[in-house]
Amino acid sequence: MGAGNAMARSVNPVEFHDYSAASSDFLNEVLSGLSNIPKAIPAKYLYDQRGAELFNKICELPEYYPTRTETGIFRDNADDIAEHMGEKNIFVELGSGNSEKARILLESFRPSQYLGVDISKEFLLEATQNLADDYPWLQVHAVCADFSRQLRLPAHCISSSIVAFYLGSSIGNFHPDEAVAFMQQIHKLIGIGNQLLIGVDLKKDEQFLHAAYNDKAGVTAAFNLNLLHRMNRELDADIDVEKFQHEAFYNPSRGRIEMHLVSITNQVLKIGKRKFSLALGDSIHTESSYKYSLQEFGQLAEQSGFRIQKVWTDENNYFSTQLLIAI
Ligand code: AVI
Repeated sequence: MGAGNAMARSVNPVEFHDYSAASSDFLNEVLSGLSNIPKAIPAKYLYDQRGAELFNKICELPEYYPTRTETGIFRDNADDIAEHMGEKNIFVELGSGNSEKARILLESFRPSQYLGVDISKEFLLEATQNLADDYPWLQVHAVCADFSRQLRLPAHCISSSIVAFYLGSSIGNFHPDEAVAFMQQIHKLIGIGNQLLIGVDLKKDEQFLHAAYNDKAGVTAAFNLNLLHRMNRELDADIDVEKFQHEAFYNPSRGRIEMHLVSITNQVLKIGKRKFSLALGDSIHTESSYKYSLQEFGQLAEQSGFRIQKVWTDENNYFSTQLLIAI
């Protein structure tokens, strides 16, 4: 779907801002990631259109507790969250995906503007246009950007009354040092006195975590393997995807789930003119998903220049929604 078309047809058009990276970034990061030891490719490249669709399916899986737990926290505490957020005109959702969770708060808040920021362009355009159609009173902006690299918003959207959302525990996909750097960027973007509502997945039973990243239907495996399909589609690569398997496990010493693509044979990957040898059992690390205790995340927030105003959790303490203020 093109932004222009959506604008022409809609009563409430979405304003589209394209800050997306050149496709050469994908190639360069894949080539350097495969040259490193251990081999790794940044997790953000899991989210092309197909990857974003698969991730949406993951969110509905019985084993994948974070999405429904976070949604439950929102539903159970919407009034209290609203009370603690005060009057805010502008909602900025980083990694907005299908914008489903923000809807709960948009309905109780009725801000004047919503900015969805996401790396996956087609998905972003569709989700924000749906939002604009459903809420004619809301001015909706779609900002396509790799915000892990540069956090930037259209200048006319910056205001003193802004609340940023970073939901779904996507903060867990950063290494803790990177998470601090990223939250410092959010601090700079929203400014002192403004708030960040952030979803943080909590440490829990390892088997339960293991199941969430190794679902029976194989959707997480397809999500992971789609990265190789994407390389074939976009990078002049000739990878036999059948020669890899999905692997995800909890690494207790690092407090994170690790997702890998493991070679099930000796093979050579060709990407353009470059070749990479992999032996049986060699892996490409594709994602980390850090799990925090409330205390650990409290320290991280403090290091980033935020004070925690309130934390909401579910009855099992699986997940937390945290309201932070930039100080
Ligand atoms: C987006 N992110 C918070 C998800 C997670 O749980 O780390 C991505 C994901 N990877 C596999 N399943 C879900």
